[in-house]
Amino acid sequence: MIVCCGSGGVGKTTTAAVLALEGARQGRRAVVVTIDPAKRLADALGLETLSDTPTRIEGDWPGELWALMLDTKSTFDALVLKYAPSAGQADGILRNRFYRNISSALSGTQEYMAMEKLYELHEEGGFELVVVDTPPTRNALDFIDAPRRLTHFLDNRLFRWMMMPTRAYLKAAGVATRTLLRVISRGVGSDVVQDAVAFFQAFEGMEDGFRQRAERVLHLLSDPATAFLLVTTPRADALEESRFFAAKLEEAGIPVEALVVNRMHPRFAPAGADQLRSRAADQADTDLAGLYENLADFTLLAEVEEAHVTELSARVHPAPLVRVPFLPSDVHDLEGLSELGKYLFDGDGEPAPVGTA
Ligand SMILES: Nc1ncnc2c1ncn2[C@@H]1O[C@H](COP(=O)(O)OP(=O)(O)OP(=O)(O)O)[C@@H](O)[C@H]1O
Ligand SMILES: [Mg+2]
Repeated sequence: MIVCCGSGGVGKTTTAAVLALEGARQGRRAVVVTIDPAKRLADALGLETLSDTPTRIEGDWPGELWALMLDTKSTFDALVLKYAPSAGQADGILRNRFYRNISSALSGTQEYMAMEKLYELHEEGGFELVVVDTPPTRNALDFIDAPRRLTHFLDNRLFRWMMMPTRAYLKAAGVATRTLLRVISRGVGSDVVQDAVAFFQAFEGMEDGFRQRAERVLHLLSDPATAFLLVTTPRADALEESRFFAAKLEEAGIPVEALVVNRMHPRFAPAGADQLRSRAADQADTDLAGLYENLADFTLLAEVEEAHVTELSARVHPAPLVRVPFLPSDVHDLEGLSELGKYLFDGDGEPAPVGTA
């Protein structure tokens, strides 16, 4: 299992798709769980709609390539159906307005459902490689915290308290609670509160199932068969978030197994920026001066990026580092994925292509 994580827009979805494609190329039965892929990539993967089950992508490879576009809500619905003691209780939850809102809007739900999908595909077996994309998470490790947070939410003491009047033995607490409810209702509207109370009532008895499930999901994330791959770009903000990310993963006892630095500026010349700058000075009277200046600027950019990347790479040592250059166009079809795959799998680990001077 591979989890592709990293900050927003760095290339997680693209990398996840490349990895699954490579798996199929190496003869494996591979599946990729994508999250909000760009429309054109989704089309290329045959993913017109959100889905709960993988569809197969036909192609010229010895293995199998399957993909799905995570449907947070129906994954959550399936969990409810699984853990509800009766069909009636499941129905009560699925129809509840509060549930319908939180099942897609509660922060961390998308992260949790991505991990849930990973677990489910792992449990069902049949796949030899499961690659999971993660949502653009501002709060670095939402997807690791998410199972815990969701169960915590379901255990929410305030709501448990609000439910108390329904339990005969706690009738005594009823007056205070009803007063509190009235106050809250004034603030958010009584419908909202009624829906919420009904939701937590309907959820009664299911928290344990959810909690155990969340623990198993967490367990799978720290299983040696699960690898976390950190994707970043060499931009300062992305690198900063990646450092934070790597530290958080380490805290959680999860090693970064590989570092992919995407969209690096290529080095066009073996000469250093200073050298090129002095060549520009030598050619001051000719048109070449501007071109050398330009080359010196690009080279400086590549040098700075390389220095930053080396530092991050040292932090996640011994994870291998792969550099992927800025490609001339977006990666939106199988051809583009293959192109990117060359850097991920065929490279020799050296800095992005060095042209000849
Ligand atoms: N090396 C590259 N060169 C050029 N374009 C790239 C490269 N890698 C990714 N892209 C493009 O950058 C865009 C963002 O990539 P992608 O969707 O994979 O990022 P993401 O990390 O999944 O983003 P989000 O956090 O929003 O989910 C896409 O349009 C993709 O085609
Ligand atoms: Mg993405």
